[in-house]
Amino acid sequence: MSREWTLRGATTEYTVGLPEHGGWLELRAWGPHGVSDGPSPLGYVGRPQYMTPGDVAAVEYAPDGVRPFAGPDLVVRPARALSWSFEDAAQEGDSLRVDFADAGSGLRAALHYRLAADSDVVERWVELTNAGDSPLQLVELGSAGFSVPTPHGARLTYLSGQWAQEFTPATTELRRGRFEIGSTLGVTGHQFSPYLAVRDARDTGPTWGVALAWTGSWRIVAERDAAGLTRIRAGRVAVEGPLALAPGATLVTPVAAGAYSAEGVDGLARVWHAYERGLAGDRLTRTRKVIYNSWEATYFDVTAAGQLALAEVAAEIGVETFVVDDGWFVGRGDDTAGLGDWTPDPAKFPDGFDTFVDRVRKLGLEFGLWVEPEMVNPRSALYEAHPDWVYQVDGRPRTTIRNQYLLDLGRPEVEEFVHSTLDGLLRGYDITYLKWDFNRPRTEPGRMGVPLEDPDLDGAHVAALYRILEALRRDHPHVTVEGCAAGGARVDLAMASRVDVVWPSDNTAPIDRLRIQDGYLRAHAPHLMSSWVTDATGLFDTRPRSLAFRFVLASAGVLGIGADIRRWSAAERTEAARWVARYKQVRDVVTQGEVHRIGGPDEERCAVQYTLDGRVVVLAWNPGPLDGLGTVPARPVRLKLRALDPATRYAAAGALYSGAHLMSAGLPVHWTADHDADLIEVTQTSS
Ligand code: DGJ
Repeated sequence: MSREWTLRGATTEYTVGLPEHGGWLELRAWGPHGVSDGPSPLGYVGRPQYMTPGDVAAVEYAPDGVRPFAGPDLVVRPARALSWSFEDAAQEGDSLRVDFADAGSGLRAALHYRLAADSDVVERWVELTNAGDSPLQLVELGSAGFSVPTPHGARLTYLSGQWAQEFTPATTELRRGRFEIGSTLGVTGHQFSPYLAVRDARDTGPTWGVALAWTGSWRIVAERDAAGLTRIRAGRVAVEGPLALAPGATLVTPVAAGAYSAEGVDGLARVWHAYERGLAGDRLTRTRKVIYNSWEATYFDVTAAGQLALAEVAAEIGVETFVVDDGWFVGRGDDTAGLGDWTPDPAKFPDGFDTFVDRVRKLGLEFGLWVEPEMVNPRSALYEAHPDWVYQVDGRPRTTIRNQYLLDLGRPEVEEFVHSTLDGLLRGYDITYLKWDFNRPRTEPGRMGVPLEDPDLDGAHVAALYRILEALRRDHPHVTVEGCAAGGARVDLAMASRVDVVWPSDNTAPIDRLRIQDGYLRAHAPHLMSSWVTDATGLFDTRPRSLAFRFVLASAGVLGIGADIRRWSAAERTEAARWVARYKQVRDVVTQGEVHRIGGPDEERCAVQYTLDGRVVVLAWNPGPLDGLGTVPARPVRLKLRALDPATRYAAAGALYSGAHLMSAGLPVHWTADHDADLIEVTQTSS
């Protein structure tokens, strides 16, 4: 190695080196502080046979000439077998930039790294510039390659699913070859989260994670070679064909983030949570208000009277923000019409929308609204005026999904329309909450009148989305924005830094939701996790659960209520008010605290522990049958808490325990037919 650079985070370090030949950068060590002090665990001995050294080395970012057989990060045309040489490097504070250039094509690549001193996530991205005279095309454009030593095979954990079943954790063992997840939908997708955890198959501790901050089409590929190295490539995928890079142009890839934890997939989750809390910046500590959302109570049957009846009960229960979901605007009697015409329907609000909002506000509630601004129904005034605004391939039919088309947000006039519509709503009405939905992927990869190979539709759409979200945040800083896409199809690190909460799934039924949230928490933080108490019975597991169970479940992130509370009995409303009040007492711990999952939905033990500045809150559920306690001999479920002080005494649910007891024997919970969930505060005592 002629040169080496180390970035140091809170507990992690990441060291890259430049070999004498200067043809690439390679990973030297990635792990706990001090890991770089010794022979590189990524280095190899012996001679590459029947392949090239770049196919075997832990190359950080490889064009196809460097890594011709094992899978490159970058493929450029008309250049073939592109390779480059080192130009320059600059390390400043928590950042590193290393430049490479190819004389033949004129392509220059700046590899960027950032590892903040208080984080264990290394951010990586690449800036590609065409400094030559001829146009270039980017066929593959990864953001980064991450190398992980997996001598006994790679154990991969990922999150997959579909609508109503998002964030289902799965693991697989990769001994050789390739594993791939991704989306070609033009949006993050329900099918896979851009998240992968990798560890050696026999070593349960050290675990590495890769995630991508991108809200369009993407790919994460893991490849394990014969010598035990697993290399993970992450980046955008050019579904619509190669991206043009004109002379003088620069393209910046999305950030691929790499995380390390010595404590397995669970520890890795804590690293991601801390990172996402960092992305929230000073918005993290804003009070996460308890919301009511009308969707499951009224669907499209929105009327001022019906919404006010709901709002009255919501206020009585302690809800702080009332959100009217789909169905409030002209032409929106069902899902066949109306999208695009964002004017309140005078038939539904006969005294005026202003008056309606005012009435909600007078109940002591803040007000929020649902929108799906990137969409249009063919039955709408917007479509009649601008049929050319939707994605389409000239001469081909257009596909409707949920009776709607996707607007081509990459067109400046569409971006302007969406931005000014939302800005207008926020200026026109007393709104503090916006739920931004997205209910269909892109099907037609084209723009009317523009040759198909030209536009980077995905990049243009996503860039416009980010600009609008950033502008709304800048101009309306008091407005909370919820990101939603037919449930959880738009949850990724890029959205985590631009919205305040996300809606993980349309499935709100108790046991189904327990699973979804358990999976979600492996990758994403509770301050982003919107969750409602509803009357839903379940798609995959219909076992009913108590109101307490549903409140404790929705309290695991940002609490909301979505049930038809007009129908709740006085007793149910009283109980609901008690749970809302309890949530308000602990919400800062839940949304800012460190998370330890205890057991899971498939175990007898099923709880999540949140810890913030010595305050501990445990949310626990009985996910399965009872054990007959009281009738036959049985022992209570024991929740083994974590990260307590063994010598300190704690009070929990009316009893005293040492920290050592709570961590080794565990906190006992007795489930009965009337008691299937609990919220338990564990407090330090002086005795
Ligand atoms: C899909 C969302 O995920 C739901 O919460 C709801 O807002 C509907 N769209 C409304 O059409």
